[in-house]
Amino acid sequence: MSTADNSILGLKMPTDPRWVDLATISLEEILTDHAFCEMKAATQCISLIQLHADKPALVEALAPIVTEEWGHFQMVMSELKRRGLELGKQRKDDYVNLLLQRIPAGLSYGEKLLHKLMLCALIEARSCERFRLLSENLEEEALRKFYYKFMVSEAGHYRLFIDLAEQYYPTEKVRATWQEWLKHEEAVLDQLVPRGDRMH
Ligand SMILES: [Fe+2]
Ligand SMILES: [Fe+2]
Repeated sequence: MSTADNSILGLKMPTDPRWVDLATISLEEILTDHAFCEMKAATQCISLIQLHADKPALVEALAPIVTEEWGHFQMVMSELKRRGLELGKQRKDDYVNLLLQRIPAGLSYGEKLLHKLMLCALIEARSCERFRLLSENLEEEALRKFYYKFMVSEAGHYRLFIDLAEQYYPTEKVRATWQEWLKHEEAVLDQLVPRGDRMH
C-alpha cells in the first residue's frame, strides 16, 4: 500500500479518474499551476511562523518545510526549463478559495491556528493523492519519477501538520475538526469540475 492511499490520508472522495487523462494533455498548465502551489506552500509556512512566533515547536517544525517547499518550486522550474517552457501566470485557485470559506471571521487566535493547520494538512493530503496518480499514470518515466518524489514529500507534510495540531490541541478535538474539514473538502470537490490544467 502506498503512502498516498486515500485510506491512509483519510480523504473522503477519490480524485475523478478523468483528471489524470486531462492532466496528461495539459502538462504545461499543470506544471505552472504546480509551481505556484509549491510557492504558496512555502509562503503559508512563512506566514504561520510570523503569526505564531511564540510557539517554538511550530517555528522549529515549519522552518525546514519552507526550504523544502521552495526546493519543490525550484524542481518544478527546472522541469519547465527542461521542456523549454516558462513559468507563466498564477491562476485563480478555486479549490483553495472554496476551502478557505470554511474559516469564519472573528475566530480567536487559538481557534484559527487549528483550522489553518487542518487546511494545510488537507491540501498536502490531496496534493499527495494527485501526485500519486500522476506518478502512476503518466507515460513518461522521468515524469513518473518526478511526481513520485513530491508524493512522498507531501505525505510527510500532511503528517507533520496533523502532529503539530496535536501538540497544541486535544487529540479528540483535532480528530473531530479534521473530520469536519474532510467533509467540507468533499463538498468543495463536488462543486468543481475536474480540470486537467490545475493541480486541484
Ligand atoms: Fe511541496
Ligand atoms: Fe508540502
